[in-house]
Amino acid sequence: MKAAFTSDNIAGASASVFNAMMEAEQGDSMPYGNDDTTAEVTTMLSDLFECDVDVYLVSTGTAANVLSISAMTPPWGSVLCHSESHLLNDESSAPEFYTNGARFVGVSGSDAKINPVELQRLVNQKVGDVHSCQPSAVSISQVTEVGSVYSLAEIRAITEVAKLAGLPVHMDGARFANALLSLGCTPAEMTWKSGIDIVSFGATKNGTMASEAIVVFNKRFSKELGFRRKRGGHLHSKMRLLSSQMKAYLTDDLWRINAQHANDMMALMQAGLARVPGIKIQTPAQANMLFCTLPVGMADYLMAEGFAFGWGRWEEGVVRLVTSFRTNQEAVEAFIESANRFEVSRV
Ligand SMILES: Cc1ncc(COP(=O)(O)O)c(C=O)c1O
Repeated sequence: MKAAFTSDNIAGASASVFNAMMEAEQGDSMPYGNDDTTAEVTTMLSDLFECDVDVYLVSTGTAANVLSISAMTPPWGSVLCHSESHLLNDESSAPEFYTNGARFVGVSGSDAKINPVELQRLVNQKVGDVHSCQPSAVSISQVTEVGSVYSLAEIRAITEVAKLAGLPVHMDGARFANALLSLGCTPAEMTWKSGIDIVSFGATKNGTMASEAIVVFNKRFSKELGFRRKRGGHLHSKMRLLSSQMKAYLTDDLWRINAQHANDMMALMQAGLARVPGIKIQTPAQANMLFCTLPVGMADYLMAEGFAFGWGRWEEGVVRLVTSFRTNQEAVEAFIESANRFEVSRV
């Protein structure tokens, strides 16, 4: 295979993350998060977010999302999220499983961003009616599932509607760093200063091996999250192996450096593909993911050339390209060159 743009999960871990985990493996340490490194990670994240946060490390993004939300909703509640969200489409029935059967309701909106007007209609629907699910929480994805990024104003428009209705807001930040660098704001601005109560601070796509942080700003959810993480099987006994990864990820700006590289590679990819006749960019990529429609036959040609990408899950011709901290510039240029060659050969 020449190069894969299938997902940012295909890259392994950054060397310093891997080395930190190997070091953490030496000697004995208190289990279940009662070790020094786990405490350090909480301090580091509190500094990063400029507020005193509670942190729950887990090993998958799905666990981070569903545990966060399970602390926000009763089983008779409904969770409002975009109809294209990972929660609704890519986490099997884990959301229902972890929330004991709460209902997940898809909200519409262009570029996979929740439309606040539509949200306003849903947060007030049948409130108090014992025959209906009660709106209980809102979740947004930053980066979204189509590669767009909510602006701060767009986040605030959603959290204002939610807060007025008394609902907490969760952010699925599987690509938190990519979104943050795209906006050029601070972590605090993109989260609690904009009304976010809990963020799934993703790291696995951007350099850790398997370490994601549930970062809690609104501590009324903390106690329950602690018990739910254990109940859900995500309180790792050797937590230091997760926290050492997160510590390395947050050290020397590794998380920013990695995400900047992924975003730069996508900017290069998008600029190149936009000039290839016949390719239609769907939603312009603002971070490290791009959806575009290829002319008939191009996807097969590119696959035969040795490239891999997301394909076959969407409408005819639509492909998903994702860059990561490991994406190599020559591979991006080779992909664009092959796409151009295909078009030229057809004329
Ligand atoms: C938007 C989004 N949220 C969450 C996740 C986390 O999923 P996983 O459980 O595979 O780590 C992903 C991974 O693909 C994602 O794209």
